[in-house]
Amino acid sequence: MHRQAARSLNRLRPRLDARLAAADPAAWAAFQTRLDAHFETLFDRLLRLYGDQYDFFYHLETILETAARMWLARPAELKALDARREADPRWFQSSRMLGGVCYVDRFAGNLAGIRARIPYFKELGLTYLHLMPLFLCPAGENDGGYAVSSYRDVNPALGSMAQLADLAAELRRSGISLVLDLVYNHTSDEHEWARRALAGDPDYQDYYLMFPDRRMPDAYDAHLREIFPDVRRGSFTYRPEVDRWVWTTFHSFQWDLNYRNPAVFDRMAEEMLFLANVGVEVLRLDAVAFTWKQLGTSCENLPEAHLLIQAYNALARIAAPALLFKSEAIVHPDDVARYIAPGECQLSYNPLLMALLWESLATREVRLLRYSMQRRFAIDPGCAWVNYVRCHDDIGWTFSDEDAAQLGIHGFDHRQFLNAFYTGRFAGSFARGLPFQFNPATRDMRISGTCASLAGLEKALREETATEVELAIRRILLIHSVILSIGGIPLLYLGDEVGALNDYSYRDDPAKAGDSRWVHRPAADWERFARRADEQTVEGRIYTRLRRLIQVRQAHPVLGDGETEIVDTGNPHVFGYVRQRAGQRILILASFTEAEQRIPANELRLHGLGYAFTDLVTGESITSDQDLVLEPYRFVWLAAT
Ligand code: GLC
Ligand code: GLC
Repeated sequence: MHRQAARSLNRLRPRLDARLAAADPAAWAAFQTRLDAHFETLFDRLLRLYGDQYDFFYHLETILETAARMWLARPAELKALDARREADPRWFQSSRMLGGVCYVDRFAGNLAGIRARIPYFKELGLTYLHLMPLFLCPAGENDGGYAVSSYRDVNPALGSMAQLADLAAELRRSGISLVLDLVYNHTSDEHEWARRALAGDPDYQDYYLMFPDRRMPDAYDAHLREIFPDVRRGSFTYRPEVDRWVWTTFHSFQWDLNYRNPAVFDRMAEEMLFLANVGVEVLRLDAVAFTWKQLGTSCENLPEAHLLIQAYNALARIAAPALLFKSEAIVHPDDVARYIAPGECQLSYNPLLMALLWESLATREVRLLRYSMQRRFAIDPGCAWVNYVRCHDDIGWTFSDEDAAQLGIHGFDHRQFLNAFYTGRFAGSFARGLPFQFNPATRDMRISGTCASLAGLEKALREETATEVELAIRRILLIHSVILSIGGIPLLYLGDEVGALNDYSYRDDPAKAGDSRWVHRPAADWERFARRADEQTVEGRIYTRLRRLIQVRQAHPVLGDGETEIVDTGNPHVFGYVRQRAGQRILILASFTEAEQRIPANELRLHGLGYAFTDLVTGESITSDQDLVLEPYRFVWLAAT
């Protein structure tokens, strides 16, 4: 250990001992072992963040004490989980992993309803369930719960903290890990810290970023991106109660926390470990890009934003080692990649793959998808992508302009095309999406819409064209086939498996009307789900085929913990990759067009599969003495026989 770190640990140890050793000597000894292993990292990150504070050691001691206290409070069942995870740190790479995400109220009414749906989750094959923010939040507008008023209280309409802990345990017994958000960039303006700040308490005003006049806000604003330009221009909100401007990156009721204040770090560490002790196994770190501010910069993805997560990660290793972090960075792919590391976020959304799957469906070409994935899919082997086709948020076209330029594609123009395509303005488009947050100054815009509506099902059903319905279903399955086979954890937005369509009723609710993302957050229609086994119905045609893909994935370890090599299939419409593990190889081909494609036999031999193989999806035998014909949107998972 670094000398300075060792010295300060020795200084702090007796103080911690005096306060905590009496509680439980065995647990205390385990804590000491972890502290020895991770203190150096923690110390280093905190020193870099807060070393200039005159009372640095006081804060360090407070943070350690929080960690020790939370470790001692950690339930035995979770300590047993810690041991299992430490013995098998690659557990989340398994091909058995399958994620699902839903809103508690919209999917099942409340936590009791979610509990009652566990048999369904098991039927589907889920091993990971992300429940959207379920904490106490303001009535009316609350950004779908992303304005948290207390991290210790469940929204009473959904249930209680005791119910949440029971649910976590029951999910775990069913082989499902509970995933929740840690919304740590901001709190709601009704959080107790914000209330105290509003009441004039200077200590709590220092938890947030508050300015007496427009001077600093204007100076910052000159460099900031507007995240919700429809809602408010600039990133600050005036609060007459205190005659101050408050930093609000997102909505005016979401107050950014001031992480330059070590007290904020400590308080949030406690909330984090509290949630870990409730039984949350993965924390989705919300809005990671925005947590650190520096005048003259965009205040996104600053080095300190990484140090913060690394410090929290070290704390988790010490006090709740089973806990994993998932990064939510919906930014340039270079920046997304920087959050992914075993010592930072072990998991990350893959917004680039998500956006490019839709890009390929629109263009019928996979050039940008292939080129970007060849350069950007590989990450640290101790980490995993969370691959998804849709989530509760908008689709932003976050591909790299530099990648696009290499292929002769102009980023700005291409985004204009994609926006026109997915809002149905482009002639011949199959999509029924809505614009989200059009910014007239930059002409930037994002897209809302459910998977099925964006893939053409809504239009095809309305126009009652059977061939178009089939094509839409194939598009839905095609993009899911990629996330289920490319490596990493596939994540389903629950409802997509039965083809949930856009729900326009949000327009009648004043608390939602201004936010088109509600169009793709429909309440679960259980009549639709009830038809899922009936292959005569649209729901059944999607569900049964998707379920089959999930089964194939779960039966083939190479589709989980294996390497991915993105290949050039020699065909601009066909995306291809090889998955391999311990000598086993699977070639995956996915055609992104409704025009029939042929893959020459020698192309198949080239990828080392030999002469005869089976399509794991259909069970069909294929030999490489003749061209492989891919019907509209066909995908094959070819294993040598
Ligand atoms: C994240 C959430 C999004 C929310 C924002 C502010 O990006 O996914 O829904 O609006 O954070 O919390
Ligand atoms: C921006 C943010 C992202 C957030 C989204 C919500 O893209 O970068 O974090 O999810 O806005 O719309």
